[in-house]
Amino acid sequence: MGKPTQPQRADGVEAAGGASAGMAGDGPEAMEGNGPARRPRVVLGVSGGIAAYKACELLRRLTESGHDVRVVPTAASLHFIGEATWAALSGNPASTEVWESVHEVPHVRIGQSADLVVVAPCTADMLAKAAHGLADDLLTNTLLTARCPVIFAPAMHTEMWEHPATQENVATLRRRGALVIEPAVGRLTGVDTGKGRFPDPAEIFETCRRVLARGPLGLTQDLAGRHVVISAGGTREPLDPVRFLGNRSSGKQGYALARTAVARGARVTLVAGNSELPDPAGVDVVHIGTAVQLREAVLKAAADADAVVMAAAVADFRPAAYATGKIKKKDGQEPEPVALVRNPDILAEISADRPRPGQVIVGFAAETDDVLANGRSKLTRKGCDLLVVNEVGDHKAFGSAENEAVILAADGAETPVPYGPKEALADTVWDLVTPRLPTPQPSSTPPTS
Ligand code: CTP
Repeated sequence: MGKPTQPQRADGVEAAGGASAGMAGDGPEAMEGNGPARRPRVVLGVSGGIAAYKACELLRRLTESGHDVRVVPTAASLHFIGEATWAALSGNPASTEVWESVHEVPHVRIGQSADLVVVAPCTADMLAKAAHGLADDLLTNTLLTARCPVIFAPAMHTEMWEHPATQENVATLRRRGALVIEPAVGRLTGVDTGKGRFPDPAEIFETCRRVLARGPLGLTQDLAGRHVVISAGGTREPLDPVRFLGNRSSGKQGYALARTAVARGARVTLVAGNSELPDPAGVDVVHIGTAVQLREAVLKAAADADAVVMAAAVADFRPAAYATGKIKKKDGQEPEPVALVRNPDILAEISADRPRPGQVIVGFAAETDDVLANGRSKLTRKGCDLLVVNEVGDHKAFGSAENEAVILAADGAETPVPYGPKEALADTVWDLVTPRLPTPQPSSTPPTS
């Protein structure tokens, strides 16, 4: 696993010493400074977009999970949600200007003492101000004085998001080490639909938790400029319009990989099979049903990917024939046996013939017996670089929020990951992937729309 390094911002400014949460827990880790442990301090910046009302839910989740939140709205955002709402929900004063409580020097102190700043929603105007270092209100001052991780969750109309000015501002902020979450695609204000939608607040909350859980490492986006493809969930192989062959995969491990990759700055494509989990914030999710569809989606996304992680439980077989009408019982007759055919082995295929030279391929092995021995032979058989071997069975791994595993590397290294949240295992996978990544190429930088 990677060792924590001295926090250093991409622009060379040293980070504040206070933020040092441990890795991955469910609640917030108490922050250890020189004094007694304290609640993590989060600044929630709210800029003037209609999605400001969704930030109330983000605030609620942050406070209810034990974070000390200070809301800093812009004057424009107060058209949507008033100061009283922010103050009541956060239990802290909410001010927009630097001229209030001047003796406390809020324009400097709020940013300096934060463990995390999240601007949600973030307008095109706020992205521009942040990128250019303007400081004409309390939020923009806070952004200049913060030495902790900063997350921007943009929400705007598609045209504004795609405009080269906005895209250049986003690129500038990312280059400096900020985490700019890709907006979701979907219904916008009014009748419009497109990219620019505010992601699910519950998922932005998860991103905040992931970044905070990385402590000082939250300042280093070691997957910035990288495209990673993750498959998750289970495939379903239809037999007739009402029946399928499936498996018990919940998708939690693959979704945890997607969330942790976003928190580390990656552009993420998640190929998701039959999972009921909400789309993670900032992730391009491709929903599929069958193994054949999964193969097609993974191969397409993998063409410019730096890493592919196959966490999906892919059905090895599918019914040889699909009945277009429901298969009915026939009185007095035994059912016909179901003939099966093999599905393609996607992991073996992309390991042998990598869609992009040098890309890192990671597989998962779900085993019930002789777990390590089976894992080692599977690593050789599949030809991938890393194989996450975990034991499955009743009450183990499937559907659980926790997991334990051993990660086997093609070079012989073995990394045991103790029982813990699937996010912790996911972070260890990325710790092992990053040093193996190919030299970045221009094609792997984030898209301009
Ligand atoms: N996998 C795949 N295509 C398949 C089957 C599995 O890409 N048709 C991938 C899975 O996503 C996982 C890895 O291969 O990353 C191992 O999956 P697992 O089910 O453990 O292994 P199998 O190849 O199915 O082998 P077996 O069932 O014999 O253990």
